[in-house]
Amino acid sequence: MSIFIPDNIKFFIEKFRETTRKEADLPRYFRPRAYRNAAVKFRNCDIDEFEKRYEIAVDQANLNVFKFPARELPGCDLLSDSGTTTMTLEQWSQLILGDEAYGSNEGFYELKDQIVETFGDRWRDSELFIFHQGRACEHALFKILADTISSKSKNIPDNGENNSEKPYYIIPNNGHFDTTEANVRDNNIEPRNLFCDEYFIVDRNLKFKGNINLKVLEELLINELDRVPLIYLTVTNNTGGGQPVSMANIRAASELARKYNVPFFFDAARFAENVWFINKNEDGYADKSIVEIFHEMFSYVDGFHISCKKDGLVNIGGMLVIMKHSCFNEKYPHFLDKLTDHQILTEAHPTYGGLAGRDLKALVQGFKTVSHHEYLDHRINQVRRFGHALLRNGIPILTPIGGSAIYLKVDDFFDGVPDADKGFKGLALTALMLIAGHRLCELGIYAFGSHNNGAEHPPDPRVNYVRAAVPRLAYEDQDLCSTAEMLKILLDYRDIIPSVEVTHGQNLSLRHFKSDYRFV
Ligand code: F0G
Repeated sequence: MSIFIPDNIKFFIEKFRETTRKEADLPRYFRPRAYRNAAVKFRNCDIDEFEKRYEIAVDQANLNVFKFPARELPGCDLLSDSGTTTMTLEQWSQLILGDEAYGSNEGFYELKDQIVETFGDRWRDSELFIFHQGRACEHALFKILADTISSKSKNIPDNGENNSEKPYYIIPNNGHFDTTEANVRDNNIEPRNLFCDEYFIVDRNLKFKGNINLKVLEELLINELDRVPLIYLTVTNNTGGGQPVSMANIRAASELARKYNVPFFFDAARFAENVWFINKNEDGYADKSIVEIFHEMFSYVDGFHISCKKDGLVNIGGMLVIMKHSCFNEKYPHFLDKLTDHQILTEAHPTYGGLAGRDLKALVQGFKTVSHHEYLDHRINQVRRFGHALLRNGIPILTPIGGSAIYLKVDDFFDGVPDADKGFKGLALTALMLIAGHRLCELGIYAFGSHNNGAEHPPDPRVNYVRAAVPRLAYEDQDLCSTAEMLKILLDYRDIIPSVEVTHGQNLSLRHFKSDYRFV
């Protein structure tokens, strides 16, 4: 190994090595997993190659986790829970049966039937538009919506000092995901996050911190109804720490939407995980089946878009589903036609939307699996066990633990460390974890930087996390516990974690995907 490694990094490498060489205690399992492995893939890299990973992280990836080659990660790749699912054999068998007809293939009709089964009978009356993933649905939806309402999409003066202007239209949401937000903004509409009050309270007993703030939503509808073309609810609330939304909140938001005649949509990427929390934690739902709760939840919306790469349990796919007889279609009667045109020009015919016929069949099977209680129990309890391992190690994380990821609270992690804000310590954590062999993602003052400067109205609250998103059916508890061990080393020596500086891209849009960094 020829590369020069500075002493402060060498220190961490020694600690990582010491810890990975320890004999582990036998973990205690209280329940078997809901599945057995039917295939495994050996990694062709070794946990002990810390120096090699340092070299790759510095020279090749410029410390940006998105640029680090996945094949060099011997530990947990927790960059995203999206598209990283291990598919079941039931799904693989469907891939082989795929119907590759050009348009309106078998999988399309099976998917339409499955939508009725999963989301309820009323969805028989819906239009299904298939896309290759969630953000393609967002792009199409917000672009066509903006075109449709364009008569007023001019800017209006901001009341601030410097004669600036702001978009006329606003889309409220309990927490826009970053691509959703970018797509809304790109169409000159203001994405407004209405986190609920409980979200800011540190109390593990608050079960539904993902809720939308109903009071602020109603104020917005009373005062600026004309400016709101659509209300959105993201289930679970990924930007708000992966927290679930209660049925009571969904119902109340839908009542407001009806009262003011505004269409109401879900970003339903993690709908099944959200329903598990309703089943476990909300009064009146303990005795209902998962599917019964799906049906109620989806009875409240006029449409939804979904990245199927999460609770569709597939590696690729997205859908936009819109009720034919709905407030949305009444308000925007030409929308579906325009969407069809747009899709043919970009993704392909709405019946396959850029996916192979086999992908649709695998998705149908994914929706069947995700409604099994045993699957959801295992899935969410595994994320919770990981969270508890971190808490036992003293690592500050957002609680209660959400369904798909752990959100490490960077401000608390570095509490008391001088100038913690200046050196992008969240990015430093993710860079050191790459060297340790695990990949996490900063979703904090760097990723969301522009919001936190208070540039928009109203300024978003400070969001400063490093996220460890757990792929579905991919890891065992011991893998996740090894991530927790590495993070404990960083916590113990947080005073000497180097800062990171940005060498490229600080002022770019979507900068966390594109930037380069270096240790200082
Ligand atoms: N909505 C939510 C709530 C999401 O979490 C994501 C993606 C999308 C929309 C966009 O879907 O990736 O299929 O285009 N979330 C991933 C994540 C990328 O890591 O949280 P996509």
